Amino acid sequence: MPTLKFHTIKWLDGQLEILDQTLLPAQEKYVRLSDAREVITAIKTLQLRGAPLIGVAAAYAVAMAASTCRSRIEFAVTVNEIKSARPTAVNLSWAVERMLISYHTFAETPDRAERLLEQAQRIHQEDAEMCERIGVFGAELMPEDGAVLTHCNAGALATAGCGTALAVIYQAARQGKKLSVFTDETRPVLQGSRLTAWELMREGIDVTLITDSMAGHLMSRRIIDCVIVGADRIAINYDVANKIGTYSLAVLAKEHGIPFYVAAPTSTFDHQIASGIDIEIEQRDPSEVTNCGGSTIAPEHVRVYNPAFDVTPNHLITAIITDREIIRCKRWAEQTNS
Ligand code: MRU
Repeated sequence: MPTLKFHTIKWLDGQLEILDQTLLPAQEKYVRLSDAREVITAIKTLQLRGAPLIGVAAAYAVAMAASTCRSRIEFAVTVNEIKSARPTAVNLSWAVERMLISYHTFAETPDRAERLLEQAQRIHQEDAEMCERIGVFGAELMPEDGAVLTHCNAGALATAGCGTALAVIYQAARQGKKLSVFTDETRPVLQGSRLTAWELMREGIDVTLITDSMAGHLMSRRIIDCVIVGADRIAINYDVANKIGTYSLAVLAKEHGIPFYVAAPTSTFDHQIASGIDIEIEQRDPSEVTNCGGSTIAPEHVRVYNPAFDVTPNHLITAIITDREIIRCKRWAEQTNS
């Protein structure tokens, strides 16, 4: 696995240090968050983002709230705000629920705040370990020599470890596979160009940036050997919510007979939701669409629709790579029979 030259999140002197991802790639700047409210704002404004990473940050935010809130009501209100900071990634509520179990378990303990901090650090550590295992499981699915397309950022920047989709690429490269990666820019907030291209270049992986609309052309010319993406929430039937544009890539991959892989830790599985139709899709501010790189790129007052995620149905997915196993989906059988 790569020895990362940056960290996304670190507990330091009673504060949460994070890499401010809104400033990348121009500036690599770490900022300190000193209370739960600052963590909520950082999650909402995408200073830190990616499903696993916001789960880890939410865990620390609950620990911070437990030590600063003066009443049970204030704590409950703050926890509710943490949980609803972003609705689609289930890792956030998964982490908060785990923290609440500890909060109640240590109700009568004088050092409850310290115990909660330890639990947040455990969640942090576990996330890094899950990333490693995803990499190991997924590497065997990567071609010996070929090109992989990825979307958004499911790398180290989206986790507390070495990533999910990108962990697979890092591990495959480590095993000597000759991979080149295509990343699409991922409008509207450009996680592909700003973050994935930056991260892969930092880690010495061959990367080529394309715009979102170029993927079909590359597939039709047989330039892409497989697609690998992350996930924000996976339903019981293995429908997958991920960054807007993922669904279109899955349809294109099926049309061209290219394997489509999803990589995600077990914390991304929602055991309460039967299928993707029930996944809440976050709607974000119109300015993300009407502005780009600080410039206005649409007429004033134009109506905007800005869903941050879409759902890829299970029948378009070849396999889901988790930290425990490779789950072979319907397209696996189709591809191995053809
Ligand atoms: O809006 P973002 O940047 O938080 O969206 C992130 C994604 O969609 C990622 O692909 C997903 O969270 C998986 S990250 C390992």
